[in-house]
Amino acid sequence: MVEIDWPSYARVYDHFSSEEYAPLVHDFYGWILDRLDEREIEPATIIEIGCGTGLFAAKLAEWYPDATLHLADKNAPMLDVARARLAPTQAEPDAEAETQGGAARLRFHETDADRFLASLPDGGADAVVFCRSWYLVADPPAAARAALRALRPGGMLFLYDPLTTYDVPAVETFFTVREPARWPLFRAALLDFNAGVAAGRYRLYSRDELTALWTAAGGAVGTYESHAPVGNAHRMCVEKR
Ligand SMILES: C[S@@+](CC[C@H](N)C(=O)[O-])C[C@H]1O[C@@H](n2cnc3c(N)ncnc32)[C@H](O)[C@@H]1O
Repeated sequence: MVEIDWPSYARVYDHFSSEEYAPLVHDFYGWILDRLDEREIEPATIIEIGCGTGLFAAKLAEWYPDATLHLADKNAPMLDVARARLAPTQAEPDAEAETQGGAARLRFHETDADRFLASLPDGGADAVVFCRSWYLVADPPAAARAALRALRPGGMLFLYDPLTTYDVPAVETFFTVREPARWPLFRAALLDFNAGVAAGRYRLYSRDELTALWTAAGGAVGTYESHAPVGNAHRMCVEKR
């Protein structure tokens, strides 16, 4: 397949996103906190695109208990896990109602990333996050413009994305031994990601490409870090001028 089977992947997603298996993803959470602290930003409104199972949202809810979190994801099984994780602080379970306003601090949006970004009001957010989700936006220039438009001046955008496709044979033996029951679904997701990249459905970016794209959209590119060759990921922050 050229698209990841997200409903199937949702069944093992948290397991393979643990600190043991995905330490750099967890490091990204703290990195964002540090960047916001440096700028003395105490965000009141945060938007996460492709929030998945709510792993980062749970951290945000803990760090910024008074903030409103807009959590957007296209796949209900992912959002279902996020809702269950965040249930104690969740006020509105219905996706339609949540998009219409109200007092909920956690707002779930079951929607496509590009469409959701295009629908956002101007200047309402202090931070926008793409954690392992920038690669899947369909129209990157338009999505970048929309994400920056959604930020207030001085607001910050953060992204963390894979650098290359995954070398599945390199981890096959390890996970076959360690995770015999769960590995087939994770393996399928990695192979589907690779096929999606080959088909042009998912995009991988160099530092220069990201910088050019976000600068053209009107952002001021800030810290950039690549985890290569230790990890297959890079991260960047962009400030709304
Ligand atoms: C790799 S996961 C990342 C989840 C989370 N941000 C994390 O790092 O744990 C990508 C997420 O994007 C969602 N997704 C896939 N295509 C999407 C689209 N077109 N619009 C919005 N979300 C999408 C998937 O359902 C999945 O939850």
